[in-house]
Amino acid sequence: MVPPTQYRVLLLGSGGRESAIAYKLSHSPLLKELYIAPGNAGTKAYGINLPLNPTDFAAVADAVDRYGIDLLVCGNEDPLVGGVREYIEAHCKATGRQVGIVGPGSAGAALEGSKDFAKDFMMRHGIPTARHLTVDASTIAEGEAFLESLDAPYVLKADGLAAGKGVLIINDLAEAKSSLRQMLEGMFGEASAKVVIEEFLDGIECSVFVLTDGTGNYRLLPPAKDYKRIGEGDKGLNTGGMGAVCPPPFCTPEFMAKVEERIVKPTLSGLMAEGIDYRGIIFLGLIKVKDEPMVIEYNVRLGDPETEAVLPRVQSDLLDLFAGIAQGDISGKELAIDPRAAVTVVAVSGGYPGSYEKGKEIKGNLSPEKSIVFHAGTSEGVDCPVTSGGRVLAVTSFGDDIYQAVSQSYESLGNISFDGMYYRRDITKDLCLKD
Ligand code: AMP
Ligand code: GLY
Repeated sequence: MVPPTQYRVLLLGSGGRESAIAYKLSHSPLLKELYIAPGNAGTKAYGINLPLNPTDFAAVADAVDRYGIDLLVCGNEDPLVGGVREYIEAHCKATGRQVGIVGPGSAGAALEGSKDFAKDFMMRHGIPTARHLTVDASTIAEGEAFLESLDAPYVLKADGLAAGKGVLIINDLAEAKSSLRQMLEGMFGEASAKVVIEEFLDGIECSVFVLTDGTGNYRLLPPAKDYKRIGEGDKGLNTGGMGAVCPPPFCTPEFMAKVEERIVKPTLSGLMAEGIDYRGIIFLGLIKVKDEPMVIEYNVRLGDPETEAVLPRVQSDLLDLFAGIAQGDISGKELAIDPRAAVTVVAVSGGYPGSYEKGKEIKGNLSPEKSIVFHAGTSEGVDCPVTSGGRVLAVTSFGDDIYQAVSQSYESLGNISFDGMYYRRDITKDLCLKD
């Protein structure tokens, strides 16, 4: 296939991550037209929003035909785990069209869609991860015995997708046994029909994104760290992510060399050995335990809000890289990274991650000179955008170091307001080398 010289791109998703992807793609000279489905109030600045649901594959195929899409980029995991790649490939075969796709088929997407599959994959390929046992309703007794063999705290994970909520970390053994039963009885629906019980790993977490073309070629985006808890000092409920720094100082070159040798290379060669044609992004959720990297989880997409801190640092043409991924050859593609640090701070609706009100007007300077304001849960209002989700905006700034970058994001956030707006004021504080 002769690649097009310019691309009509369809990007699936609507969050801050997709805003950052759309922002980068919109700067590419290779872009002819960008469609974002469904997008948000901010993505309109980068392309055309299409009101369709990314898991409605017939609607995605219809948009591919109607807008002459050359490249489909899957921002979030649900369509990939559900087989959007196979669906669009079959559709294009039937209609004689050629569409490149960034994102694996469902066999590769099982790295995120089934934690049991991911753990077995890691065991098969010698990839460092926590000890585990997977159980179902018929093997509860083995599960309880395994829990007894571990030290507290205990980690219980629903096997399937549970909207980021399927992991429980429990201090008490009796409570862990009871939660195991509840999970198997349907606490997370079908997703917890199988449960992965894991040894607890103590360390600091980071996210590494691998771009790969399915043939063993890869490029690593710079590492990032996100802040998951709602409260300052990492207290309170888990969220989708309250901020991210890129790069985290603890991801030293020595650590990253270990990540490449022990995790990236065996993951890619393992996928190839198992006949899985993986063209897309592999998100390594890592934990650094006494200087050694271990895998907490794989995802099959970029992270949110890490992407909002990582992609602004990418100086190379992201669309050129994505096209290479889809065509199965990134061997000649460069990946240049801005040496400055980047930090994003997420502003959320009051009450999030619990219930919150929507429709609040977002006032102030949403196009500051020294930051990038990525929209997440926003929609168009009468005079200004309004809130429509828990995570509303992700404000990214550059700096000579992460501390300078975060100060700039806070300054820009100071000029934005909506009723109930909240953000953590301690992003980077745990990483402070200056104290
Ligand atoms: P996951 O959905 O697998 O990423 O798990 C969600 C969060 O639970 C991770 O980001 C970690 O903070 C925590 N977690 C998961 N597995 C472990 C583990 N084995 N040891 C310690 N923390 C874990
Ligand atoms: N920030 C973590 C994730 O995207 O899963």
